[in-house]
Amino acid sequence: RLGLNTKFLGHSIHYLDSTDSTQKVAHKLSQEGCPEGTIVIAEEQKNGRGRLTRHWYSPKYTGVWMSIVLRPNLSPQKAPQFTLIAAIAVVQAIEELTNVLPEIKWPNDILINGKKVTGILTELQADVDKIDSIIIGIGINVNQQLSDFPDELQSIATSLAIESGRKITRAKLIQCILMKIEKYYHVYLEKGFAPLKILWESYAISIGKEIIARTVTGEIAGRAIGITNEGILKIEDDAGIIHEIYSADIEIKK
Ligand code: BTN
Repeated sequence: RLGLNTKFLGHSIHYLDSTDSTQKVAHKLSQEGCPEGTIVIAEEQKNGRGRLTRHWYSPKYTGVWMSIVLRPNLSPQKAPQFTLIAAIAVVQAIEELTNVLPEIKWPNDILINGKKVTGILTELQADVDKIDSIIIGIGINVNQQLSDFPDELQSIATSLAIESGRKITRAKLIQCILMKIEKYYHVYLEKGFAPLKILWESYAISIGKEIIARTVTGEIAGRAIGITNEGILKIEDDAGIIHEIYSADIEIKK
């Protein structure tokens, strides 16, 4: 139905009119042993989930709310890299289908003109040393107008339609993203993360900037100097000490 030209990604599509969370459905399918490349797409999520137990606003017919199941034969430490791979795919698909240039804010936000248009949530089912499945959830605000967002989101969120001034066909966007994820997944399996790290850094806004990283254990301020081969953010503080950040909210200082 999506006219996909992929080898495996999206060959099994679970399309739902309404659901709690495509992430939840994908977890269940994965536990039941669904094939790699299975995707779940919903027109609406009643309980869309963001990082750090936040809610993800997912109204009907206006966005892309999608989860992808991958089963790479890797250790769980590699999982954060998949957020970055998905982000590259989404940025490139947006560039291809619109006239806007999105940027990536580590680890998982895609921004246009400083406002969030996409969030990516990567979750794992794994043993200590082996991934069973990686579930990549992608939420893209596509055709909302500003007034469609709840008040508290209006100053921080945006959609592709707001930024590009036209309506975007969601099926085309999904198709484009899936083809790119498949392509970069193969690059990753064949060549590792190094070529993707360079690509990712070329879209990243935080690199080279003064930032504050808020983690569960506290704040670290300094200059974001890049990401490691694992996809972990490196920050150099004023004393020249380099901190490796696995998970945080990032504020970019002006
Ligand atoms: C974030 O920025 O915090 C991540 C948001 C991820 C939202 C997507 S929408 C599809 C999938 N299903 C969910 O419940 N969440 C992800």
